Amino acid sequence: MLNSADNDLICRTGAGTAMGNFMRRYWVPFLYASELPEADGTPLRVKLFCERLLAFRDSTGTLGLIDEFCAHRGVSLWFGRNEEGGLRCPYHGWKYDTRGNCIEVPSEPAESGFCAKVKLKSYPVVEKGGVIWTYMGPPELQPPFPAFEWLDLPASHRYLKKRHQESNWMQALEGGIDSSHVSWLHSGELKSDPLHVSKGAVYQRDTTPKFEVVESPGGLQIGVRRNAEVGHYYWRITQFILPWYTMIPPYGDNALNGHAFVPIDDETTIVWSFTYHPARPLSEHELATMNKGGGMHVELVPGTFRPVINKDNDYLIDRQAQKERRYYSGVAGIAMQDASLQESMGPIVDRSKENLVSTDNAIIMARAILKRAAVALRDKSVTPRGLEPESHRVRSASFVLPAGVPFATERADDLRVREGVAHTGI
Ligand code: FES
Ligand SMILES: [Fe+2]
Repeated sequence: MLNSADNDLICRTGAGTAMGNFMRRYWVPFLYASELPEADGTPLRVKLFCERLLAFRDSTGTLGLIDEFCAHRGVSLWFGRNEEGGLRCPYHGWKYDTRGNCIEVPSEPAESGFCAKVKLKSYPVVEKGGVIWTYMGPPELQPPFPAFEWLDLPASHRYLKKRHQESNWMQALEGGIDSSHVSWLHSGELKSDPLHVSKGAVYQRDTTPKFEVVESPGGLQIGVRRNAEVGHYYWRITQFILPWYTMIPPYGDNALNGHAFVPIDDETTIVWSFTYHPARPLSEHELATMNKGGGMHVELVPGTFRPVINKDNDYLIDRQAQKERRYYSGVAGIAMQDASLQESMGPIVDRSKENLVSTDNAIIMARAILKRAAVALRDKSVTPRGLEPESHRVRSASFVLPAGVPFATERADDLRVREGVAHTGI
């Protein structure tokens, strides 16, 4: 449980908040590169951590992320003309480059130097792995670029999907590290989803998992064991990397999955789902399954990032399927099973009313390290963890071990990136 001050501390990410300042120290994935395909194309409205911004590609193809609003009288530059090396406000013609510099104020004589004094807020942008990233923290503290395994794989080995979720980011993250709900909420898919069926999925029928959570350089290693054959445990190890990344343990040779939960504002979240196989291209069958909303993915309303199954249609809940346990909650698909329940808590759940149990251990620890890190940064300027690229070079895994063998030391090799070598999954 969290009192309301701590809940606010973890959930609120606007400018000047402790969590907002903490998150601004990390690189932020926010667009597909394909969303800004061409020079001088249509600019895109972007909202991150409650800040309203505008992304565009100028005539040379250079990307920019600047304040959405014109410095003259506050018009949204989304209406702007993207032409000849900058974005021109259509109201009175002021023009800005990709770094937010005002490069023309047509009504003022050039020799007045007026426009040199005008600058919009802007953030650096980098395109990598099919994604556009920004860094919104103090420029002098910009960290090295992330080194997640999927970023360096050939495009044929990975599949990325972005959706919007109508809840605070922390509700989504907590779902991502809550390994115990899989045995309930996703029990239908463990039998039917082609990207989940495996021997390990059978062990998930043990609904009394035990958690062993250990700190890692970038966050947490969340070990969860269930009973396997006599004298053995089936382990699933999830990685949580600060501030918002999770890596979900695999099922057999099915691809690895991960998420990033990036706050748009305090009540809306970008959910990135990354599916990747370190050692082979994804198959036609896998791609077709994911395109149809299988695996960790969802079908979207065309032209938007809103799932077809959403709050306004009661997530197309199917009570007959619920009775028959085809879908344990009656909602189809793993991602929307999660999102529907997380959205049902309200935009920001009141955590003072919770009653936590031992299977919430990972959630308790994640909240604690997030709070500790945000407060240490605020009060003592302590550099956050998870900025070093080396801390990203980890993998989730699933395996069976004899009882009493500690997973983190015994299977350390399975929990780090080994280039060209497949991950460990059962
Ligand atoms: S409001 Fe943009 S130029 Fe006047
Ligand atoms: Fe889930």
